[in-house]
Amino acid sequence: MLRRLHPEQPDSFAFTPANQAWAEAQITKYPEGRQASAIIPLLWRAQEQEGWLTRPAIEGVADMLGLAHIRALEVATFYFMFQLQPVGSVAHIQICGTTSCMICGAEDLVAVCKEKIAAKPHQLSEDGKFSWEEVECLGACANAPMAQIGKDYYEDLTTERLGELIDAMARGDVPVPGPQNGRYASEPASGLTSLKDHEAGRDDLNISARLAVDIGDTIKRIDGTEVPLLAPWGRQSGDGVPQEPARPAPANRAKGRPADKTGTTKEEAPAMSKAKPVSKRDPEVSSAVEAPEAAPATAVDESEPELLSGPREGREADDLKRISGVGPKLEGVLNDLGFYHFDQIAEWGPGEVAWVDARLKFKGRIERDNWIEQAKTFAAEG
Ligand code: FES
Repeated sequence: MLRRLHPEQPDSFAFTPANQAWAEAQITKYPEGRQASAIIPLLWRAQEQEGWLTRPAIEGVADMLGLAHIRALEVATFYFMFQLQPVGSVAHIQICGTTSCMICGAEDLVAVCKEKIAAKPHQLSEDGKFSWEEVECLGACANAPMAQIGKDYYEDLTTERLGELIDAMARGDVPVPGPQNGRYASEPASGLTSLKDHEAGRDDLNISARLAVDIGDTIKRIDGTEVPLLAPWGRQSGDGVPQEPARPAPANRAKGRPADKTGTTKEEAPAMSKAKPVSKRDPEVSSAVEAPEAAPATAVDESEPELLSGPREGREADDLKRISGVGPKLEGVLNDLGFYHFDQIAEWGPGEVAWVDARLKFKGRIERDNWIEQAKTFAAEG
């Protein structure tokens, strides 16, 4: 199947501010020089925001990663999960057409889509609310036939039930995902034959359906306001929008030199060239001894903080790993230095930070990951 960009494209694309912050946090997952590895999550996020991948979105993501546009276009056109044409404003329905589902009636489900949505896959319905396509096995074969609608699975479908689902979504409802024939999960249709103890007292929905209902974003366009959307090493302000710490300003690695080994140069960015350059951030201690780039601009005199030889009397050591950026190894190092409690860290001032920085050789990390504010919060929790 040829996968081409849609002939009609918008003029520009921009992530919402929250999605932009999320995307930048994703980039920091990868080591220096390997930020291009973030391309799939970023493209996916763009698709979750817009419903489909536009050319400006693909090129904008390429610009964020310092890639030639063709590199991002190659990825977007290779993977079928990326929609290269507009999808229904309410939902894009993906009918599984592989063996189990086909045996159990997938072709009839496709017929429903043809009748209620559009004669051909990837066509919009007349009101623009729906589109559909047939996809390969979605891994829910024990609940065939099934369809993925938005983020969730609707299983054990019949033609009648699929028609009802489409009608409900057209009205603005979001039916509960999961089995649609009364089955709890993927147990035998006649009921459980073993492990029956688990039937008593269980939730009325299986755990996947419960999670889908609780999150509630089955067919929602993702604008970044969802919680949680923050990389675990990032920070979160009170309103749930991730806050990336101030970073040094490395040279734009895409500028003025080939974007990759082929010598392809980076093309002009259409709308997203304001994306911040990325810098190295590694959540664990391994980088703590080799990432001095965020050193404070002005030297501060060291001041020895309160040190303990062990947890305070009658108390256990606090779990310092709760601080974003502190892993098991770093917690051990902090313990060895004499830090066992959040309130110790909460008391650090610039001099104490300089003292700790000097001994851990990761200047800037305490401020960058906002250890002190985190420690204050945990200390206040008692
Ligand atoms: Fe349809 Fe596997 S065959 S989910």
